[in-house]
Amino acid sequence: GKGNYRHFMEKELHEHPIVLGDTLRQYIDPASRAAALPALPFDPATVPRLTMSACGSAYLAAQVGRYWIEQIARIPVDSDIASELRYREPVLPEGGAALFVSQSGETADTLAALRLLRSLGQKVLSIVNVDESSMARESDGAVLTVAGPEIGVASTKAFTAQLAVLACLALGFGRARGVLDGAEEARLTAALLEVPGHAAALLEDSTEVLELAREVVQARDVLFLGRGSLYPIALEGALKLKELSYIHAEGYAAGEMKHGPIALIDASVPVIALCPSGPLFEKTASNLQEAAARGGRIMAFTDAEGAPALRRFAERVVVLPTVDPFVAPILHAIPVQLLAYHVAILKGTDVDQPRNLAKAVTVE
Ligand code: M6R
Repeated sequence: GKGNYRHFMEKELHEHPIVLGDTLRQYIDPASRAAALPALPFDPATVPRLTMSACGSAYLAAQVGRYWIEQIARIPVDSDIASELRYREPVLPEGGAALFVSQSGETADTLAALRLLRSLGQKVLSIVNVDESSMARESDGAVLTVAGPEIGVASTKAFTAQLAVLACLALGFGRARGVLDGAEEARLTAALLEVPGHAAALLEDSTEVLELAREVVQARDVLFLGRGSLYPIALEGALKLKELSYIHAEGYAAGEMKHGPIALIDASVPVIALCPSGPLFEKTASNLQEAAARGGRIMAFTDAEGAPALRRFAERVVVLPTVDPFVAPILHAIPVQLLAYHVAILKGTDVDQPRNLAKAVTVE
């Protein structure tokens, strides 16, 4: 049941800390402070390439996973949405492996792409939340997210649990390939293990996100911007807002703005920026400043280190806990989900069962 919550989505948002903790404890060994992966159907030390695929939010989790696996483990990764992968006649390397991500394990396009790649000789690993699902059964191996049942149509805790698993895979792969040393792995696992506590703090007081929602609810169009691993989270913010509030939203890589979307910037379009401190901060901030100079209303999520620079031109700055850039996408996913939730509540839409959507899309 929903317990004391008004909606399943609200309940599931509040389960982030527990789910993240449970999932991370499953795949991190606290004693060695190293990733502890289950047996894999391929050898990450020698696999020539990974193909990652999924649909919707699960695909966006895979996109973050791609950035991590390439950066940390130096494995070439190709990724595509499942409905494209299955028909684009992909060129696959001999001895390659494929990773499919799904909450339900039943999404028709993802399952079909999985079957196709397996039939073409790729070793298939799936990251699923339902261990009895078709994808888990039909893969060469499965890694489970420990999110528990997710009832709300909009994916929340399952999405961050997917990120947690993908982060652990990236670390395990990096070690297997000899490109991640023990000290760095220990530092990154420590950063991961701090996320559940930060998530709890974020959820405890969402006043600022609610204030942001009051602005966003009046908009007809909303832009979400981010760079690097925050780019897929910008896409996720836009997807969540669309599906829950029916407000048109688009996610863009911040650096791509000046190649088109900047034309639609005016004072009526809120620009939600995901801009934590880190190697891409300056670049993102300067993209945002370009938008502000054209009358854009910048509303930024950042941390204490990033806030002063953004306050010079942003209308609103929401300060999140300071974390290692590695885990910033997991943390930023939570307020963008919360934002969509609050906007939907203000609009009075059905948050648990948005129109035209199904929890598991089992038709092509
Ligand atoms: O069950 P799956 O993870 O395979 O579902 C994939 C998408 O249908 C799903 O993530 C969808 O995009 C959500 N409604 C997003 O909130």
